[in-house]
Order: sequence, then structure tokens, then C-alpha cells
Amino acid sequence: MPIIALRPDKVRQRTSQCRKPSGWLGRVSLWSMNRRHSKLTDWGLARVAIAAGDTILDVGCGGGRTVAKLAAQAPAGRVYGIDYSPDSVMVSRRTNQDAIAAGRVSIDEASVAALPFASDTFDLVTGVETHFWWGESLGGGMREVFRVLRPGGRLLFIAEFYNGGRHARYAERLGALTGMAALDPEQHRSLFTNAGFTDVRVVDDAPRGWICALGTKPKE
Ligand SMILES: C[S@@+](CC[C@H](N)C(=O)[O-])C[C@H]1O[C@@H](n2cnc3c(N)ncnc32)[C@H](O)[C@@H]1O
Repeated sequence: MPIIALRPDKVRQRTSQCRKPSGWLGRVSLWSMNRRHSKLTDWGLARVAIAAGDTILDVGCGGGRTVAKLAAQAPAGRVYGIDYSPDSVMVSRRTNQDAIAAGRVSIDEASVAALPFASDTFDLVTGVETHFWWGESLGGGMREVFRVLRPGGRLLFIAEFYNGGRHARYAERLGALTGMAALDPEQHRSLFTNAGFTDVRVVDDAPRGWICALGTKPKE
């Protein structure tokens, strides 16, 4: 990965379209991420059982491909996506236009720091390649996803940017340049545990450089 040799301003310029996609370049990034994150997403989603009638939220939904995958796995349920980028919302709505028309999917503009949902709503919340961008909202975002999950509901984060695996050499440097939170597997575990989740499981596929973290909101 030659990113380490890039000038800091160029690195920041490139990564800003992943942090909050905007304009035509943002839309190109979203279409590209829909393609590039697909295998990683499938790998992570395979760790969690999804029932046909589940109510699911994908936070930082980007171009909406994860929402489409979730809607296919929960054909009798309902899937919501939120993203704080208006362009992500637009691309995600286009990706899911048929399911939206059928009343099975909704996509809205919102930050993880203030989710526009009632407490105890979702069976599952997912976040793919997003939590390391939340910066100062990371703690508040964890509190919000915990709040909107129903007791017994699960949170799943899936990412390939983390401090470990084949990206370990770059993660710290890239984090310092961009503000991305390069958490290691143990820090992912603490993030979930400190937010109140139980049955926390972190899967680190070091050769591929993929990580997922899964936790359950206790039933009381
Ligand atoms: C790298 S993209 C990943 C998009 C998508 N999940 C995927 O896997 O292709 C990160 C997304 O998270 C969104 N995001 C970052 N911070 C956010 C926040 N605090 N609240 C809501 N969305 C956020 C960005 O706007 C962007 O669309």
C-alpha cells in the first residue's frame, strides 16, 4: 500500500471523501466503495444470524449496498440506513430505490451522535467501514446505538482499517494524519464492553486485514 509515501495533504484530500463524501468526487467514491466493500461486508455479516422479520439499522450507510444486502436477508422485516452526508443519502436511496418504493427500506440524513429513532427499536445495528471516522462522536455514537437496540439486540462493526493484521504498519501513521481512530482488536473489545455490550466477540482475520466486532445489548 503506497499511501505511506504520499504527501500528508494528498492523504487527507483522498480520505476526506471516505469520511464525508461530497460532490461528484464523493459520489464516485460511494459507487466505488459499494463495489470494494462488498466481500468484506459479506464476510462480516456471516458472523451474525439475521431473521427474516428483523428490524435493522445500518449506520454510516454510504452508497447503500449493505442496506440492500440486509434487506435481502430480512425480506419480511424493515431496514433503515442513516448517514450524515447528503450525497451518501442520495446514492444510498438510488441503490435501494425499489425496496424504498416497496416500503421495506428507509434512508435518512442523520449523525450517529443523535439517531432519530425511539429507544429499544432494532434487532441489529451494523456499521461497515465507518466507526473509525466518528472521532469525537465515537463515545456518543456507541451510546446512541446501544439506546436504539432492543434488549437482546446486537451491534456489528466491520472494518479493514484497524491497528492490526496486514495494515498494522500503516494504521498508526494514517490515523495521525487523518484523525481516523486506528483501534486494535483489544480496543474494539473495550469499546463494546465499556458501552455496556455483553457476549463481545472480536474476529481478526489478520492475513486479509479484516476485523469485525459483535456485541449484544443485555436483556436486563
Ligand atoms: C468509508 S464510508 C463507508 C460507507 C459504507 N458503510 C460502505 O461500507 O461502503 C464511511 C461513511 O460513514 C459516514 N459517516 C462518518 N461519520 C459519520 C457520523 N458521525 N454519522 C453518520 N455517518 C457518518 C460517511 O459519511 C460515509 O458515508
